[in-house]
Amino acid sequence: MGDVLKAKQSSAITLLDEFCSAHRNAKIADICTAYLPICHAGVFDNSAVAELLLSVQDESYAYIDELDNIAEGSVLLNLFSGSGRLIRELLDRGLLRHFDAVYNVDRSLSMIEFSKKNFQVECLKFICGDILTVEMGNAAYDLAVCHCGLRYVKPDCYLELATILRNLKRSCSSCCIVTEIDESFISSFAHVLKQSGTVFQWKKRRVEVQRNTTLYLSHMYYETDLQFKTIINELSLMQEVSVQDILRDTAGYKIADMNMLLF
Ligand SMILES: C[S@@+](CC[C@H](N)C(=O)[O-])C[C@H]1O[C@@H](n2cnc3c(N)ncnc32)[C@H](O)[C@@H]1O
Repeated sequence: MGDVLKAKQSSAITLLDEFCSAHRNAKIADICTAYLPICHAGVFDNSAVAELLLSVQDESYAYIDELDNIAEGSVLLNLFSGSGRLIRELLDRGLLRHFDAVYNVDRSLSMIEFSKKNFQVECLKFICGDILTVEMGNAAYDLAVCHCGLRYVKPDCYLELATILRNLKRSCSSCCIVTEIDESFISSFAHVLKQSGTVFQWKKRRVEVQRNTTLYLSHMYYETDLQFKTIINELSLMQEVSVQDILRDTAGYKIADMNMLLF
């Protein structure tokens, strides 16, 4: 991580620390509900956040070692591609060369530009746009991956997303994989898949993942200082423990179940 980024990140934490000491008695009613604004605040249109996201090194993509549909000449759709962690994982494992084309789709221009600059390999194609509306090309894919993107789609758009994924052109051995650590997103999406008649498998896999609290806080700090303070203020008024405690509780690594839907 760059020095400037580290300095900005630590300023965000200092800001939060200062705020917490001034509001030491702040209480919360429901830690989970109150943490949601942080989790859902990701706009991601920020190059510093793109760099931070790519710095996350955990086992989120470990399942790709077990995929058997990465044959020579495959086509991959990397949906909600972010700053390119999947590309990095494929490169590290020597798997990228198996693909004729990898389409990376993300609605954040900063994420797309960052990954385009970072990964200059011929097979990589970048598409900036909303998955629900963007034109994704006509290549029949062998593998489509949506990692940690479902959480940013409103539940009332799940059916639309399921229809888009089902209607994408596929090769005969294709597989679409939707993954999330948080089971609630996966169970709601599985419900929609079932209703729309899609046959799928739901697998769980124990992984070590990095929790992103600092990332989101930094993001808010970069977005606007006022927005950052406002959200922290609202949080601290709702919480039974101080925001500082939440930060300690949520930062770092944890062992969790990766929930995977395959269809
Ligand atoms: C948590 S990041 C995950 C990125 C990547 N899959 C990874 O493993 O690092 C979620 C990404 O989804 C993108 N995103 C959220 N909603 C989207 C949508 N409707 N269409 C396209 N991209 C979206 C965000 O811009 C962000 O880059």
